[in-house]
Amino acid sequence: MSDEVGTLAAVPAARPGDTVQAIDTPSLVLDLAPFEANLRAMQDWADRHGVALRPHAKAHKCPQIALRQLARGARGICCQKVSEAVPFVAAGVRDILISNEVVGPAKIALLARLAGHARMAVCVDDAGNLAQLSEAMSRAGVQLDVLVEIDVGQGRCGISDPGQVLALARLAQELPGLRFAGLQAYHGTVQHLRSREERQRVCREAADRAAACAQWLRGHGIACATITGGGTGSVEFDAASGVYTELQPGSYAFMDGDYGANEWGGALAFEDSLFLVSTVMSRPAPDRAILDAGLKSTSAECGPPSVLDAPGLHCVAINDEHSVVRVQPGATAAAMPGSVLRLRPSHVDPTFNLHDVLVVVRGGVVQEIWPIAARGLSR
Ligand SMILES: Cc1ncc(COP(=O)(O)O)c(C=O)c1O
Repeated sequence: MSDEVGTLAAVPAARPGDTVQAIDTPSLVLDLAPFEANLRAMQDWADRHGVALRPHAKAHKCPQIALRQLARGARGICCQKVSEAVPFVAAGVRDILISNEVVGPAKIALLARLAGHARMAVCVDDAGNLAQLSEAMSRAGVQLDVLVEIDVGQGRCGISDPGQVLALARLAQELPGLRFAGLQAYHGTVQHLRSREERQRVCREAADRAAACAQWLRGHGIACATITGGGTGSVEFDAASGVYTELQPGSYAFMDGDYGANEWGGALAFEDSLFLVSTVMSRPAPDRAILDAGLKSTSAECGPPSVLDAPGLHCVAINDEHSVVRVQPGATAAAMPGSVLRLRPSHVDPTFNLHDVLVVVRGGVVQEIWPIAARGLSR
């Protein structure tokens, strides 16, 4: 009896062949047709501009997705944390950039272990950190690629003083166990500038800073094989800049409310492919419906999710396990108890991190269930 009860929580939310309407909710759903169109559009854009694509896996944390990005031509992937990289290496990914500083003995030891199985690269902006990385890699008998992170305007990690960049690049060339691979020049705040024209202008400034830094290093005899950066909101311009050799977008494969609010309109565009399915669990008043998905199913720091397919329904509040939907006159039929609604998350990355699995559909029918294997791996 107790054995049987122990297995009940593992009953899957859906099985291949189920319709979307039959998926137990709340569940995160990937629609393959727009997802594949997004992968194709991004890879084609990178190919056309002669730039490598290294999609960011922090967006999805799902090895099945990374393997599909690689199969379409991506050079490798990015992860943001060392532990996040583990399920990807286990799934056979052999080229990973930790697009971040890795600080502390436990993390560096894990990085050295991974470097025994895959080509690993990391960002640095500090000489002491570089020395610790060198010591750990030498002890493990492995090689680590190092990119000096420069601040091209975001004001997060990374240095901007050319003398400091040169000193770090030289040190990376000299220290055992390390190989200087180039620069990371990522600008996060440009990604969600709403105006396309303004994004283009700020991207140009960032690319100019990266180019000046690479030129300064070249002038001192140091070549930058890689200049990496870019996200969904900037890749259109980064690819065409002639400066970046590698692009790191993540959200493009799915899109979300925050990216949807950007002004697009150029040659590069992406479709919504990720949805949260949620059930109307209560209809306590004609103008109010309550959904069974809350903050434990979707992030809301960029606003509540939007309700799709039903124009008169608007999510106005979100609690731990509930969302409150305002029902406009005429939208009543879509908001009856038991109705299953599709929601568009406002921010994909933290939403993926709330789910164990992704229900993968094509044409409204469940095809497969993919584990979000790096979910929760944020060390
Ligand atoms: C270092 C780095 N590269 C790339 C990205 C691109 O992400 P996205 O395309 O999902 O905005 C991010 C996002 O935060 C990032 O931090």
